[in-house]
Amino acid sequence: MAKPKSAAAAAAAPAPAAASGGPITRDRLAELLNEDLAREYQAIIAYVVYSQVLNGAEYMDIADQLEIHAKQELDHALILSRQIDYLGKMPVVTPKPVRTSKKPRDMLRFDLDNENETIRNYRDRIRQCEELGEYAMAEQIRQILIQEQDHQIDLATALGIDVPNVNSGPKGQRLAKRR
Ligand SMILES: [Fe+2]
Ligand SMILES: [Fe+2]
Repeated sequence: MAKPKSAAAAAAAPAPAAASGGPITRDRLAELLNEDLAREYQAIIAYVVYSQVLNGAEYMDIADQLEIHAKQELDHALILSRQIDYLGKMPVVTPKPVRTSKKPRDMLRFDLDNENETIRNYRDRIRQCEELGEYAMAEQIRQILIQEQDHQIDLATALGIDVPNVNSGPKGQRLAKRR
């Protein structure tokens, strides 16, 4: 019979490495940047495909915007690869899975979900870079974040919905400045 774990034993167990709020290390940061890179690859593929298959007069503007997004996501992937290499790690080569649909609204919704996730992660990443004293890296990710928030706005506008509030970050400032 398995010995039941006491609450004290559970409390003494080491905290999972992924727990947020714990001290960040350079190795952990490189791992997290590799997750970000896999999300950038995912975004490149999604935008390459969706920008070409979105049909219908009402989607012409957003299809053009998605083509611009595709190129920006490639720039982001290059910046992240450089940072991962700088941290002494090998950049990953595998994208996160890309969802597909024949319905334009589904495609835009998938993109928006991914951008929300990306924004949430980059906000964390900026804090983690600064915690490690990597201020230049934090600045590079800030520049990426500005573009991701623009992508989020483009997609929400095309869907005719409010821009999702993914956390209590400084989104309001950015929105106020735009348009
Ligand atoms: Fe990106
Ligand atoms: Fe994006």
